[in-house]
Amino acid sequence: MKFFKLLVIVFLVVHDYLVAAQDNAEIIIGFTEDERNALLALKAGFHNAFLDENWQSFNCMNWYGVRCNGSRVVGLTLESLDIAGEIKVDALFNLSVLSVLSFRNNSIFGQLMDFSKDMELSRLDLSRNNFDGVISPSLVNLVRLESLQLQENKLTGAIPWFDQSSLKELNVSNNNLSGPIPNTRTLRSFNSSSYDHNSLCGPPTSTTCGPTSHVGDTSAGSNKSSVDATLIIVNVIGSIVLVMLLISFYKKNKQLNQKISERNNVIREGDKEKLENDEEKGDEMSSTVIDHQAKGLIQEGKLVFVDGEPGFELRDLMTASAESLGKGNFGNTYKARLDDGRHVTVKRLRDLKPLSRDEFLNHLKIIAAQKHPNLVPILAYLHSNDEKLLVQKFIMNGNLFTRLHGGRGTSDRIPFRWGARLAIAHGVARAMEYLHMNPNSSLVPHGNLKSSNVLIDENNMPLVSDYSLTLIISNTIAVHRMVSFKSPEYLTSKKVSKKSDVWSYGSLVMELLTGRVSILSVPQDDKAVDLCTWVHRAVREEWTAEIFDLELMVQRSAIHGMLKLLQLAVRCCDKVPEKRPNMSEVVKEVESIKALNLDSDSEEDLSFDRDQSQSPTDDSISATPSR
Ligand SMILES: *[C@@H]1O[C@H](CO)[C@@H](O)[C@H](O)[C@H]1NC(C)=O
Ligand SMILES: *[C@@H]1O[C@H](CO)[C@@H](O)[C@H](O)[C@H]1NC(C)=O
Ligand SMILES: *[C@@H]1O[C@H](CO)[C@@H](O)[C@H](O)[C@H]1NC(C)=O
Ligand SMILES: *[C@@H]1O[C@H](CO)[C@@H](O)[C@H](O)[C@H]1NC(C)=O
Ligand SMILES: *[C@@H]1O[C@H](CO)[C@@H](O)[C@H](O)[C@H]1NC(C)=O
Ligand SMILES: *[C@@H]1O[C@H](CO)[C@@H](O)[C@H](O)[C@H]1NC(C)=O
Repeated sequence: MKFFKLLVIVFLVVHDYLVAAQDNAEIIIGFTEDERNALLALKAGFHNAFLDENWQSFNCMNWYGVRCNGSRVVGLTLESLDIAGEIKVDALFNLSVLSVLSFRNNSIFGQLMDFSKDMELSRLDLSRNNFDGVISPSLVNLVRLESLQLQENKLTGAIPWFDQSSLKELNVSNNNLSGPIPNTRTLRSFNSSSYDHNSLCGPPTSTTCGPTSHVGDTSAGSNKSSVDATLIIVNVIGSIVLVMLLISFYKKNKQLNQKISERNNVIREGDKEKLENDEEKGDEMSSTVIDHQAKGLIQEGKLVFVDGEPGFELRDLMTASAESLGKGNFGNTYKARLDDGRHVTVKRLRDLKPLSRDEFLNHLKIIAAQKHPNLVPILAYLHSNDEKLLVQKFIMNGNLFTRLHGGRGTSDRIPFRWGARLAIAHGVARAMEYLHMNPNSSLVPHGNLKSSNVLIDENNMPLVSDYSLTLIISNTIAVHRMVSFKSPEYLTSKKVSKKSDVWSYGSLVMELLTGRVSILSVPQDDKAVDLCTWVHRAVREEWTAEIFDLELMVQRSAIHGMLKLLQLAVRCCDKVPEKRPNMSEVVKEVESIKALNLDSDSEEDLSFDRDQSQSPTDDSISATPSR
């Protein structure tokens, strides 16, 4: 019967470990994403200006009071910071290797946290706060707990049955605890100074317990504590068995409940499966669960710099303060500020093909070797077990999508004139032509050309980004998310080619000309339209005049060039890939339109300024969002 119970306990613990293992599969620079999120949730509850300021860089080593080992948070010490916020009961679930936690001398309120996932916890200090409710029973299971300081809070209820031999320091004084102090060797080892100023009874307090309190009874106590001692021993053995079980059950999580019902022979079965599965699963386990604490990014990852002298190192990147630029299609993007004030863009790559380290590095080498004035330069990249990063030059003025569609109908909107749009169409075409001439490129050299992947620099020149990622992104993800796989040829014959990029370019130019939101940029937007189809229909049904963005229509002299560019875009969008021009032809045509522009306006962009001097807001040059 006892054995049966113990097995259930072991299995519950195993289950928790499995859940924890899954939670921590993803690693962010410096610490896991789950842990970072857990800390951000804490910060949100604390409303503390100091933390808000000091908890934001990439690397947890720069977070005040946070101590990391490798990529895991092992210590959290926030003492005397005037934190007056609330903490959630499950706040520590995802900080599962936490060893030291101190919130001493703040005004934190709420119930005590649930520590059942924090098996490594050895020192816990929550003294001098406003915690209420009972002392969490989960603390009883922490076999590494050495010091527990809960004095000067508003805790109520009885003291749980602490009997872990690890516990060497305890203070629960100055609370509102009541009832007998449980008779365990551990709790008896402390003198009354640990228990003072509560309504407790029994030794070591001077109050004797009333006749109804049987918990402190000696015979029952020793009986219970011997059972508990057995529990601990088996728990320790359990933890050892656990690692083995973990290995064999890792992929069998779903069957776990079923396994519990067969618990009587489960250990034997587990052992057998361990032997059978060890070889094939060993690797996977070591990278996800067992080694995750030891393998910090710094130790194992090395930044590969594209151009020799970069002027920064991984260490600088890790200590840089970072600001999220958003969740990209293939991972989050951050703007990091290096110590010298420079900014770089850091992209965490996700959803990659199952490439070996060498394959990954080779592909990145090919991608990063592509250099053109209209491509966003890649400065460095990194491959580690946990993390794949792409470090790019930070481009000032946002992306084309925002430039085209942002601030419409508001006074902040700076009109985006023909000359500037044509310059974008030209720069993008040149970048694409360059990519298409690379003999090492993949089937579809860019693969994901859309307005949000065209960045605009301080001179309002376009720089194309996120190029050639088809080489490394998993095929299934690419098919779902990349623009080339929305092309007519992919939909009908599952084929993509350079001409799929040409199609994307055509669509991008239509977005430039119409000012309408393309469905390729934001598939989920109601206002978004399939521009190739829409323009085709507009041309056929002769409502051509309504095609162009009203912001362009004020420039009468430009209409000829706009029509020419529209014709080019329509050809790029042809359903039949072979009928589309190649990128070199496109570049030539755009250049001839630019020349036309020069002819009609004598001096392209500058002439616009002069032409539009009657309207003070007209400024095709300053696409910069004012200031
Ligand atoms: C822990 O991480 C998991 C997985 O990311 C998440 O779903 C869960 O909400 C997190 N729990 C807490 C309490 O933060
Ligand atoms: C508690 O924190 C306050 C500031 O919040 C500080 O002034 C005080 O000295 C601290 N007391 C102790 C005992 O640490
Ligand atoms: C202590 O708890 C009792 C109920 O258990 C309550 O009546 C009393 O007000 C509490 N005292 C303080 C100081 O919180
Ligand atoms: C109680 O124990 C603490 C810590 O072990 C010690 O500092 C203190 O002197 C003891 N008090 C008495 C009255 O024995
Ligand atoms: C427990 O905490 C109180 C302050 O609340 C202190 O006076 C007492 O000495 C502490 N006792 C031990 C054993 O740490
Ligand atoms: C970091 O973790 C590893 C593996 O868990 C351990 O061996 C090492 O002692 C830890 N280092 C520190 C500084 O805690």
